[in-house]
Amino acid sequence: MYVCLCKGITDKQIVQAVNNGTASVRELRQQFGLGDQCGKCTFMARGVINEAMQNSSARQNSSGKPEIFVPSNTPSVSSSYFTLPTN
Ligand code: FES
Repeated sequence: MYVCLCKGITDKQIVQAVNNGTASVRELRQQFGLGDQCGKCTFMARGVINEAMQNSSARQNSSGKPEIFVPSNTPSVSSSYFTLPTN
């Protein structure tokens, strides 16, 4: 499906760009020129990016690897931990 008619950019191109690290409409504009002419495509492009990012994280989670690993025995750190002594 075409997302940007002015530049002929499809949802598949956007999904591929997201899989390669693109995370914003601004980056799509820099890469493909998406939105440079009439700008009517930017809202739909944002939706395609969000959906692709959700699918990407769902695939990572289904592989059994968490995106961020925080050990369960990690002690909590209060803000006073970072306060320097005054004397
Ligand atoms: S449809 Fe994308 S700039 Fe016009």
